[in-house]
Amino acid sequence: MKIRNSFFFSVILIFLIVIGDSAVAFAEPIPSAAYDGVLFPDRRCCNREGKETVSACKNATRRGSAAAECEVWSEACSEAVLKVARREETVEWLKGIRRKIHENPELAFEEIETSRLIREELDLMEVSYQYPLAKTGIRATIGTGGPPFVALRADMDALPIQEAVEWEYKSKVAGKMHACGHDAHVAMLIGAAKILKTREHLLKGTVILLFQPAEEAGNGAKRMMQDGALKDVEAIFAAHVSHEHPTGIIGSRPGPLLAGCGFFRAVTSGKKALAGNPHHSVDPVLAASAAVISLQGIVSRESNPLDSQVVSVTRFDGGNNLDMIPDTVVLGGTFRAFSNTSFYQLLERIEQVIVEQASVYRCSAEVDFFEKEYTIYPPTVNDDRMYEHVKKVAIDLLGEKKFRVVQPMMGAEDFSFYSEAVPSAFFYIGVRNETLGSTHTGHSPYFMIDEDVLPIGAATHATIAERYLIEHG
Ligand SMILES: *[C@@H]1O[C@H](CO)[C@@H](O)[C@H](O)[C@H]1NC(C)=O
Ligand SMILES: *[C@@H]1O[C@H](CO)[C@@H](O)[C@H](O)[C@H]1NC(C)=O
Ligand SMILES: *[C@@H]1O[C@H](CO)[C@@H](O)[C@H](O)[C@H]1NC(C)=O
Ligand SMILES: [Zn+2]
Ligand SMILES: [Zn+2]
Repeated sequence: MKIRNSFFFSVILIFLIVIGDSAVAFAEPIPSAAYDGVLFPDRRCCNREGKETVSACKNATRRGSAAAECEVWSEACSEAVLKVARREETVEWLKGIRRKIHENPELAFEEIETSRLIREELDLMEVSYQYPLAKTGIRATIGTGGPPFVALRADMDALPIQEAVEWEYKSKVAGKMHACGHDAHVAMLIGAAKILKTREHLLKGTVILLFQPAEEAGNGAKRMMQDGALKDVEAIFAAHVSHEHPTGIIGSRPGPLLAGCGFFRAVTSGKKALAGNPHHSVDPVLAASAAVISLQGIVSRESNPLDSQVVSVTRFDGGNNLDMIPDTVVLGGTFRAFSNTSFYQLLERIEQVIVEQASVYRCSAEVDFFEKEYTIYPPTVNDDRMYEHVKKVAIDLLGEKKFRVVQPMMGAEDFSFYSEAVPSAFFYIGVRNETLGSTHTGHSPYFMIDEDVLPIGAATHATIAERYLIEHG
């Protein structure tokens, strides 16, 4: 998620300039949970007996009642999922994965070692996948291989921020940090893969696991889609850790959840002259100033007050010669909205206002929205049915008190590209724990999580997918 903040941008810039790149590879493999034991408890049980064959064990798991088979979701099914997730080996393994990724953060489209680690875990679980999508992305498949297809997504990239938390698994890469919790997202999705793999014979369709690069910068989701991430997919879900909710609380809402986010840069051009002779100039400072004032009228006068929107001018640059009217002035800023229509209306009106105000003062102007640099993020809008699905899963799995309806936020997410294409729901999962001190917002150098979230997140992801296949197939 993007939380725009000029302080952090300055931190980012400083580190980009001062430190540069230094790659640290994942030195040793993560101790994986014993796959024969944890993934296939029935098989271990049989092997321990020492007298039955693997096929007999498989038969054993296939027998049993409709309830155990989870053709209709029951408390027993939730318990079965939670049991796998909460096993001590599973929890330690999930923490190990998350810590390994946390120590070795990689920025957008550079998630080489993170992606390798994920593929190694998938290989161990005998989960098949397509690689690469969008340079470092992975599309893994669990289930029948046939329809329906439901997708779960995790983002893999870190941020150019210097970690300020002192702990055993602190980032080993100067100036880079998993300050948005994407390390936890990856661990939770690998955990979901493990749970789903133990239950593969119960799946009534196919679960697609998407490990995506470049959420923070570069529209990784859009590139994943261009490489076929959503082929056959009829619904998609994703989580984001949140410091606003206590550990393991799930939060979401129907409809708009996160804002669309765009940036603009406008160059207003006139004619330079000595400031003592303004009549020899065509003054872009006056023209750009008029534009700044008029831009404030878009949200306050043209948009519905019940439809939250923002236009902020954050840059005004006419050089630094106090005795000279400059040739050009550069304006810049950002805009947010919660509906696609409002978002693109803002974009259109920002351009019109700047260009037309320039012409009032005999100047010209050009506005750039950085479309080519992939900095436009549409609003993230939850489908009502998919939201209801997440809510039901969370309540049945974790309890009535573990679900919250949340307010929309002005942050942005590139999950919005998937949500434009297929019905989807995005939800938060709490990592706030006052005792541990995990109370800092994402993109803070003090950001940290309560790792107890990992098994809960893995179980929630897995159940969202398994139940989707049963109930929407
Ligand atoms: C397992 O089930 C299959 C098909 O129902 C059957 O042919 C086979 O004999 C069973 N194996 C054992 C060891 O029970
Ligand atoms: C959002 O609006 C833009 C511009 O009008 C359009 O290209 C895009 O398809 C729209 N997306 C959705 C989901 O309606
Ligand atoms: C916070 O973390 C501590 C230490 O792990 C744990 O004992 C406690 O239950 C946690 N609190 C919550 C609200 O999860
Ligand atoms: Zn972020
Ligand atoms: Zn994020």
